[in-house]
Amino acid sequence: MSRSVLVTGGNRGIGLAIARAFAEAGDKVAVTYRSGEPPEGLFGVRCDITDTEQVERAFKEVEAEHGPVEVLIANAGVTKDTLLLRMSEEDFTSVVDTNLTGTFRVVKRASKAMMRARKGRVVLISSVVGLTGSPGQANYAASKAGLVGFARSLARELGPRNITVNVVAPGFVDTDMTAVLSDERRAEIVAGVPLGRYAAPDEIASTVRFLSSDDGRIHHRSRHSRRRRIGHGSLTIMSGILEGKRILVTGLLMESSIAFQVAKLAQEQGAEIILTAFPRPSLTERIAKKLPKPAKVLELDVTNQEHLDGLAEQVREHLGSLDGVVHSIGFAPQDALGGNFLNTPWESVATAVHVSAFSLKSLAMACLPLMEDGGSIVGLTFDATIAWQQYDWMGPAKAALEATSRYLARDLGKQNIRCNLVSAGPIKSMAAKSIPGFDVLADAWNTRSPLSWEVTDPEPAGRGVVALLSDWFPKTTGEIVHVDGGLHAIGA
Ligand SMILES: NC(=O)c1ccc[n+]([C@@H]2O[C@H](COP(=O)([O-])OP(=O)(O)OC[C@H]3O[C@@H](n4cnc5c(N)ncnc54)[C@H](OP(=O)(O)O)[C@@H]3O)[C@@H](O)[C@H]2O)c1
Repeated sequence: MSRSVLVTGGNRGIGLAIARAFAEAGDKVAVTYRSGEPPEGLFGVRCDITDTEQVERAFKEVEAEHGPVEVLIANAGVTKDTLLLRMSEEDFTSVVDTNLTGTFRVVKRASKAMMRARKGRVVLISSVVGLTGSPGQANYAASKAGLVGFARSLARELGPRNITVNVVAPGFVDTDMTAVLSDERRAEIVAGVPLGRYAAPDEIASTVRFLSSDDGRIHHRSRHSRRRRIGHGSLTIMSGILEGKRILVTGLLMESSIAFQVAKLAQEQGAEIILTAFPRPSLTERIAKKLPKPAKVLELDVTNQEHLDGLAEQVREHLGSLDGVVHSIGFAPQDALGGNFLNTPWESVATAVHVSAFSLKSLAMACLPLMEDGGSIVGLTFDATIAWQQYDWMGPAKAALEATSRYLARDLGKQNIRCNLVSAGPIKSMAAKSIPGFDVLADAWNTRSPLSWEVTDPEPAGRGVVALLSDWFPKTTGEIVHVDGGLHAIGA
C-alpha cells in the first residue's frame, strides 16, 4: 500500500537515505529541503522548520501532491558545538528551536490529519548524544533528550487514535554532520562503539521504515532490544518464526530465484540476512533492493578457496554470528544437460558436481566458525532418486548433494547443526531457463502432481526452506522435505 510520507531534511544525509528507502518500497515520498536543490526523483518542498508559516505552506504543497501525510519522519536537525562557557544564548536556543521546537511544529501540523484519519506513524530522529551527553554539545544533547519526553507524551496522547510516535536515537553516522569532526575525535568515538565503526545512513533508514510499518505498531524501547512494548504495558517477543536469527542466503540472482523468496520470507519472519553473490554483486545488490529490508551483499564463488576462507570474517563484521545458512546453488555446463548424457566430458561433470554438491560442504565449513551455538543449513535439490528427461548430469550432481547433506548431518550433529534439503518441484528461475527442454520436464507436474503446481511461483519452496531454518524442526536433520505438490509420491 502506497502511503504519503514526509521526511524533513530529506535532501541529504540520514534523511535522504530514509526518503529513498520509503520510495523504493513504493510509498509516495516528499522531502523538505532548506537550501540547495531537492534530490532527484523525490518531491521536494522548500521549508525552514524554524518558521511556522513555511511549515504550513510545505504541508499544503505535500497534501496537494500526495494527500494528507500518513507517515512523518522528523529528521531535520543541526549542531552548533562549543563548550558551555563559549556557548552564547543564541547558540543554545537556535539549536533547540530547530531540533526540538521545529519537530514540535511539524508533528503538530501532521497530527491534525492523522487524528482525522485515526491512523498515523511518526518517527523522530534523536541521537545517542541525547541519552549519554557529550562535551561541547549541551545545546544539541538537550534538544535531542527533549525529543524523548516529547514523544513519550505524544505516544500516550495519540496512541488511542492509532497514531504511533517513536524515537530512533542513532549512534554516530557517516554524514555531513559528522564529517566536520576532527580525525582525533572520530577515532575517540569509534573506539567507544562496540562494532568499531560509524553507522551508515541506510542502517538508520531500515529501522525507521520498520517503525513506520504495520509491524511497527508498537512503542519501541531501544534500537537493539529484541523485546518490545506493545500497547500500554505488556512486554512480548515478536512472533516471526525467525525472530532474532541471522541467516546467510546464497544464490539470489533474480526476483524469480528461490533464494529471493527465502530472503524475503526470512526478513518478514524477523531474521537479519546477509546475501552472497556470484558472479556480480552489483546484480544481486539491485535485486536485493526489492526485499523488505536492506541486506548486505558479499561476493562468493563457492569454488574459490580464497573467497571461502574470507567469508566468516566478512559475515562476522556485518552480522556477528549465524543461525542459518541457505545453499541455493546449482550449475552444470550446457554440454552436461539437455540429452547429451552419454557424451558429456568429465570436466563438465566435475564442474557440475563441484558447484552443485561439493559446495554444500565447502559453504558449511566456511560458515562453521560463526555457528558456535548450533544452527540450520538448508539446501535445494531436485529429486535425485529417479532419472528425469533433459536433466542429465545435474541428476548425479543432485544425488551427490543429497548424500553430502546426509554426511554433513552426521558430522555436524554434535555441534547441534542440522542439515536438510528441500526437494522443490520445477521453478522457472534463471537456473531452470538454462536447462534445454525445461518445459518437457515441467510437464510431468501438469499431469501427475496431486496438488496444482505453478512453475512461476517460487514461494512454496521458499516457505519450506524458512520452516527448516526455524526452531520448528529442532530434531530433524539429514532429511529431504519435498515441496513438489506431492509428485514424488505418485507413480505413472
Ligand atoms: N550524523 C550522525 O552521526 C547523527 C547521529 C545521531 C543523530 N543524527 C540526527 O539525524 C538527523 C539527520 O542528520 P544528518 O547526519 O543526516 O545531518 P545532515 O547531513 O547535516 O542533514 C541535516 C538535514 O537537516 C536539514 N535542516 C537543518 N536545519 C533545518 C531547518 N531549520 N529547517 C529545515 N531543515 C533543516 C538540512 O537541510 P539543509 O540541507 O537545507 O541544510 C539537512 O537536510 C539530525 O536530526 C541529526 O541530529 C545524526
